[in-house]
Amino acid sequence: EKGNYRHFMQKEIFEQPTVVAQTLRSYVHQANNSVALPQIDFDLSTVKRITIVACGTSFYAAMVAKYWFETFARVPVDIDVASEFRYRQPVLEDGGLALFISQSGETADTLAALRHCKAEGQTIGVVVNVPTSSMAREADLLLPTHAGPEIGVASTKAFTCQLAVLAALAAHLAVKKGRMDRAEEEEVVRHLLEAPAALNAALDHDEDIAAMAHLIAPARDVLYLGRGPDYPLALEGALKLKEISYIHAEGYASGEMKHGPIALIDEAVPVIVLAPSGPLFEKTVSNMQEVRARGGQVVLISDAEGLREAGEGCIATIEMPRVHPLIAPLVYAVPVQLLAYHTACVKGTDVDQPRNLAKSVTVE
Ligand code: F6R
Repeated sequence: EKGNYRHFMQKEIFEQPTVVAQTLRSYVHQANNSVALPQIDFDLSTVKRITIVACGTSFYAAMVAKYWFETFARVPVDIDVASEFRYRQPVLEDGGLALFISQSGETADTLAALRHCKAEGQTIGVVVNVPTSSMAREADLLLPTHAGPEIGVASTKAFTCQLAVLAALAAHLAVKKGRMDRAEEEEVVRHLLEAPAALNAALDHDEDIAAMAHLIAPARDVLYLGRGPDYPLALEGALKLKEISYIHAEGYASGEMKHGPIALIDEAVPVIVLAPSGPLFEKTVSNMQEVRARGGQVVLISDAEGLREAGEGCIATIEMPRVHPLIAPLVYAVPVQLLAYHTACVKGTDVDQPRNLAKSVTVE
């Protein structure tokens, strides 16, 4: 079942161009570059507030989506991890949409949060990969990802498919709310449709990343930095490293470095910076220079232009294709997944069945 791949995780990473394209096919009309959501009998234009709840990697998809919902649709968005959401007293406004993101559709905390929101009269939307799951059955608005079965315990392709669905949903909501005209909608869809090719281009750097894993494997601690919609990718990169290579890693919003974590910087702590070209590039790079000035060993992940501008003096660089900022979080998922994967291979850990972890967390 793994075909030519050594691990399910590796196979699933490489499936991303195909499954993201497959997922996008059911959320956009390619003929006229418009967004198309599954038929629903509820008027999205009335949504005043969105609450998004999820766990782990799916929560990082929620963090990215918050940027999109706010930027495109100008709708306020609250996000929370399910285990916290359940036990605070969340204030839910009438007419709210509560969105739950889950690969398995069975995560106990997320499901309990869903039931709470349902009882409070929220409209329930779910982004799930398992169409027969509990969450899928209990949703008012079912938004399936079409990633196919995900076997590796560390989530990879489900995440990029979640992002594809959430980007389409944010654009759709913006159209419904009169915040996005046809020309803008066409542009967003065009960029989304560029994602599969860009994911392929990112995967072309597999060997460079495998070589770089030898730099990361001996580290005891690793920091990941990103900004804006790429900040959640820094968190995702750190989570992946922890999960499968057992290296202690932290993700930070790059602007937060000087508020504490910069004290950790020395030659023994690789700092991996995610900085795609775009409106936030210069800001991220200036945070990176602060790290370098303190002897930090920086690995820069950017596109050719970004690497030309800021790559000098880094211990390693990884080149990504130049993409529109909208799809950067999907594309930059690839190097963080591959880096964790190859680091785990160097260390000889059990990639598909990391210790202490289960694929589906059905207990609290
Ligand atoms: C990380 C990972 C977990 C899951 C989390 C939520 O690689 O796989 O953090 O993302 O347990 O699972 P789902 O999405 O099934 O609700």
